[in-house]
Amino acid sequence: MRLVLLGPPGVGKGTQGRRLAGELGWALISTGEMLREAVAKGTPLGRAAGRLMAAGELVEDDIMVGLVRDRSAEPDAARGFVLDGFPRTVPQADALEAMLAERAQRIDLAAYLGAPEVELVRRLSGRLECPVCKRAYHRTDARPRDGRHCDDHPGVELRQRADDAEETVRKRLDVYRVQTAPLVDYYRRDGRLREVSGLGAMDEVYRSLKQALECPDPDPDPDPTSSGAPSGASSGASSGVSSDASRRARPGR
Ligand code: AP5
Repeated sequence: MRLVLLGPPGVGKGTQGRRLAGELGWALISTGEMLREAVAKGTPLGRAAGRLMAAGELVEDDIMVGLVRDRSAEPDAARGFVLDGFPRTVPQADALEAMLAERAQRIDLAAYLGAPEVELVRRLSGRLECPVCKRAYHRTDARPRDGRHCDDHPGVELRQRADDAEETVRKRLDVYRVQTAPLVDYYRRDGRLREVSGLGAMDEVYRSLKQALECPDPDPDPDPTSSGAPSGASSGASSGVSSDASRRARPGR
């Protein structure tokens, strides 16, 4: 499957996309992660992108399309991929359609995760990230086992993302509303959109997402207490794929 994950900053695209791709053997293509890596390496792309990211603005469409064109042609993407953070504008979505059509491929589905803005700000202001594996934790909802270091990389201290400062988060939400939210209708128009509430514990959201996508379950887990998510996954309103639940959870649309 070739899947686009849509939704505002902080709704859980990275968290859910990583788990889905890992479980189903698809490539996870996160444009935000690719850019942060370029920033960390100090490449020319990283230097240009870093300024825009720190301001909560989007990087130019042409650059992003080029990155995804190359990454999606790598061998690990042949079985399928999850796009997290791309497309983010209508021109990016058009370019993605054209790029895949050249390969006789297409995006099969787009999954929209929604949550109210107050919850998005709460999640982003508490987010911590492992600089090695990029796994997202949360100060209260998804704490690492020892409170400071990545569970999978002992000794590696978690850090806050530079663009998770409250003022930058507000700017990112504004940019989302204007430039990215129109993509929900873009994929709804031809029946490829699935809407899932991003509220509720991470496991609940994951189950709803898989149900909405009608994903196969390659390795049913007989132990209901084992989640595969960071410990202490969030509580909250229950999630689901019903149109009512997702309508309540849609910000800025
Ligand atoms: P990007 O990295 O894509 O950021 P984003 O879209 O703003 O999304 P986030 O990564 O902030 O949130 P998420 O939805 O993945 O949530 P997460 O799972 O981490 O982009 C960053 C920047 O790069 C952009 O601003 C732009 O400048 C640039 N960029 C990237 N792509 C671009 C493109 N295509 N075009 C132009 N520019 C581009 O979860 C958030 C937190 O909540 C975590 O702490 C997590 O533990 C917690 N959490 C998750 N789920 C739950 C739950 N169910 N309950 C409680 N807590 C939860």
